Amino acid sequence: MHSKTVHPVSTFGGELCVPGDKSVSQRIAMLAALAKGTSVIKGFLTGEDAMSTLHAMCALGASSKFEGDVLKITGTGGKFKEPANPLDLGNSGTGTRLLAGLLAGQKMTVTMIGDESLSRRPMGRIKDPLEKMGAKIELTGEKGTLPMTISGTPLRGIRYELPMASAQVKSCVLLAGLFAEGKTTVVEPRPTRDHTEKLFQTLEIPIDVNGLEISVQGFGPLGPQVDARDITVPGDFSSAAFWIAAVAARPGAELIVRGVGLNPRRTALLDVLKRMGAQIKTELIEKEGDPIGTIYVRGAPLRGTAVGGDEIPNLIDELPLVAVLGALAQGKTVIRDAAELRVKESDRIAVTAGHLRAFGVEVEEHADGMTVHGSAKLTAPQEPLASHGDHRIAMSMAVLSLFADGPVRLGDVDCVATSYPEFWKHLEKLGGKSE
Ligand code: S3P
Repeated sequence: MHSKTVHPVSTFGGELCVPGDKSVSQRIAMLAALAKGTSVIKGFLTGEDAMSTLHAMCALGASSKFEGDVLKITGTGGKFKEPANPLDLGNSGTGTRLLAGLLAGQKMTVTMIGDESLSRRPMGRIKDPLEKMGAKIELTGEKGTLPMTISGTPLRGIRYELPMASAQVKSCVLLAGLFAEGKTTVVEPRPTRDHTEKLFQTLEIPIDVNGLEISVQGFGPLGPQVDARDITVPGDFSSAAFWIAAVAARPGAELIVRGVGLNPRRTALLDVLKRMGAQIKTELIEKEGDPIGTIYVRGAPLRGTAVGGDEIPNLIDELPLVAVLGALAQGKTVIRDAAELRVKESDRIAVTAGHLRAFGVEVEEHADGMTVHGSAKLTAPQEPLASHGDHRIAMSMAVLSLFADGPVRLGDVDCVATSYPEFWKHLEKLGGKSE
């Protein structure tokens, strides 16, 4: 377990590209493995989550090869093979939950395991709809958690009203629906990221999006015939978000991020920052599939804001950063309707609130969020701040540390590699200092 010391800086900013989108990379790994032929993927994330999913797909019969930064995935044409060993999904909730959907209707038995953090995360949320479709799922962890064993069975289509706004559960049910008899409809309580839907469209898998209702027509146990495609993965907005926040909160600082995903279901942080007073512009360059473009940020003195409701799923992974921005803003910032944060890679409400307090920030925790009171002076915590194995906690705290009154020690930062292996290099590139 490695730790890092982050030093405060007086200037920060510049221009960069961030690595590939984690959600998109993992969906591509799965769908390219399902397809017939070789897909050529540009910008695939080499972070651990995407690599765990890719390795799982190779254990199921696909093959893959990097040529420079291009990834070639040769698919199974829908004929997955039963893996010899349990599939280890590492830290990846997306990999585990989506793959469960893809495998529920295959004629084989597969066990999935994961690291300590993933093994604490709720899997009942996918077991329920999959069982309604006729799947056989066993969760042998203590509380509806991993390990999970799926014994593939014939599936029937269902209409499923999601009890929570979750793109992972939505995608799991849609993937299972492809292998079911009849139609599967998922009804979302609020719109969530739609990368699965967009990829289905790119791969010409019929999908019907009607407001919050998304339907696929099942192809039965053989699944759909999908042809391999060449696809470019956008830069991950959630990785760019760390630098966007670090620059937005520094009056006069400037940042340009190129080649980054601009899917509106991911970029609500930009709206929040505009409300807080930052100057933000975007330029759309690629409109087909998942949109890609450039983000320009100019920092300003920020003021507190309130986030909640439909905005939450569109900035779900950025909420620890919103709390960090709240600490740097004048006045109070209120986050509500975000109880889902408690079941992410860590309890992001409790951990973020605790860490902000360690900097001297006044925070009230709510069951579904927190209120952060902006503080003029951030005192460097005496004790190292634990990541709790959560990449976004480690990186959000690194951003806050850039504004502290002295160096800050961050414990167990290895988890950063799950989504952003180049994080520390990019921190230096923009003028930060860590050791
Ligand atoms: C993801 C969906 C979100 C998000 C996660 C990735 C996805 O999770 O927090 O980082 O790839 O679909 P939920 O679906 O659990 O909200």
